[in-house]
Amino acid sequence: MDLTERMRRLLRKAMEESDVRGFFDQAVDVAVELAGAERGLLVRKEGERLIVVSARNVDRESLRGREARLSLSIAGATMDEATTHLIEDAARQGAFSTAESVYELGLRSVLSVPVMLEGTAVAALYVDSRFIAGAFGEEDARSLETVADFLSLCLWKHGMLEVQRRQRAEAADLREEIEALKAQLDELLAVTRSADRASAAPSRVVGAGRFPLLTGDSAAMLRMQAVMERVLDNDVTVLIIGESGTGKELVARSIFEHGRRRGGPFVAINCSSIPASLIESELFGHLKGSFTGATRDKKGLFEVAGGGTLLLDEVGEMPLEMQAKLLRALQHGEIQAVGDVTTRRVDVRVIAATNRNLEELVAAGKFREDLYYRLNIVTIEVPPLHKRKEDISVLVQHFLEENRRQGLTTVKGISPQAMLVLRRYSWPGNVRELETVLKSACLFAEGELLEASDFEALARAESVNPGERGGRSRRSSAT
Ligand SMILES: Nc1ncnc2c1ncn2[C@@H]1O[C@H](COP(=O)(O)OP(=O)(O)OP(=O)(O)O)[C@@H](O)[C@H]1O
Ligand SMILES: [Mg+2]
Repeated sequence: MDLTERMRRLLRKAMEESDVRGFFDQAVDVAVELAGAERGLLVRKEGERLIVVSARNVDRESLRGREARLSLSIAGATMDEATTHLIEDAARQGAFSTAESVYELGLRSVLSVPVMLEGTAVAALYVDSRFIAGAFGEEDARSLETVADFLSLCLWKHGMLEVQRRQRAEAADLREEIEALKAQLDELLAVTRSADRASAAPSRVVGAGRFPLLTGDSAAMLRMQAVMERVLDNDVTVLIIGESGTGKELVARSIFEHGRRRGGPFVAINCSSIPASLIESELFGHLKGSFTGATRDKKGLFEVAGGGTLLLDEVGEMPLEMQAKLLRALQHGEIQAVGDVTTRRVDVRVIAATNRNLEELVAAGKFREDLYYRLNIVTIEVPPLHKRKEDISVLVQHFLEENRRQGLTTVKGISPQAMLVLRRYSWPGNVRELETVLKSACLFAEGELLEASDFEALARAESVNPGERGGRSRRSSAT
């Protein structure tokens, strides 16, 4: 192929090549051909070390030996001096002939030109011929310098691309940072807005009207309240589920207080805190003498709650044997006291609550399936706090007011930064945790406002475990 054509191709390749190594090899090949040399090298410097970037027609063996050291020392000098080295007969010529026994090595003609980048020689393009003295002339030197210019161009372009890539990456990082800041700002605005709303409200904090016990008017809470509305005027059994501390008991009490049985009693029993042996007599009552210690007749809670509502809290913990008896009571509206042979009719609305996953308990054989379906006629799911963070500010106002009312504190409010900490935390213990955290912050607070520094432990907990959500959620393992 015509040399001009080869140069043109090389130039094109220099501009296009994304595989720079391929381009280096091709450039050295062209240099070898242009000069009619035997072998060619492209050498660069890294600190004091010389590194062969490309070697053509040079076998690996000779790259390691003395001969290579000589070739490299000429390439090194080319870079150090940033000038072309044309050595017509290395065996006879000055510095290099004394450095090594050039003759012995059979190195005769050498041509080495610097590759310049922004005024510095960053590499050397080197060709040689071992057998012919005076193989290269000035014309060859000019040709090789042109190839070296192409190499400069390619390196420069490569460097520019690197810079561009870095700048693009930096711009992407910046964009991300801006997005994060924007999100933070939005959050702060939301916090300030809801704090304004809360302080503008009358002394009773937002309870979305219908159920004043339940603070919070997030969409999730309003959805739940819409379900509650549907069970106020009837006696259907209601199952309340939700993580610990979400307010299940408050929901049960609210249904009672606004339902048609509000004139009657509200009785709650925690099924997990009563020994299995006592739970039957607790629920259904016993006759005097029916067991040791039964010194007189006792009414069970089903009767005590007569005309009102009975909350079976932590119903998932009820012993299996009791579950059968409970099912009978629910199905027939009749109970049998311990030691009694007759049954009595009862008139109660039953609400059950649990933070356990009853379906999993059923699958594990720990909860009766028939009882599950009997309880699960209407299910009300109380949303965890991390799913309704917009309620946090009104809950905070509510609990601060509560703490002031009890004379625990004179704290009047909370700073936006502190509110941000509260909104960022994941609240595995839900509203109960928020209540406790605020109480302790109030007790230790120094000014009238709670500051971010009053919630250091929360900020720390969140940074240790940022992704965790609802860690103490409904215990799902059926133990
Ligand atoms: N929406 C709310 N508004 C005001 N206080 C609330 C609200 N939800 C919960 N609380 C308060 O949080 C605490 C926990 O509520 P509650 O006992 O009803 O939760 P729970 O779901 O029954 O918890 P557990 O599963 O541990 O029994 C209570 O002090 C309650 O007053
Ligand atoms: Mg409870």
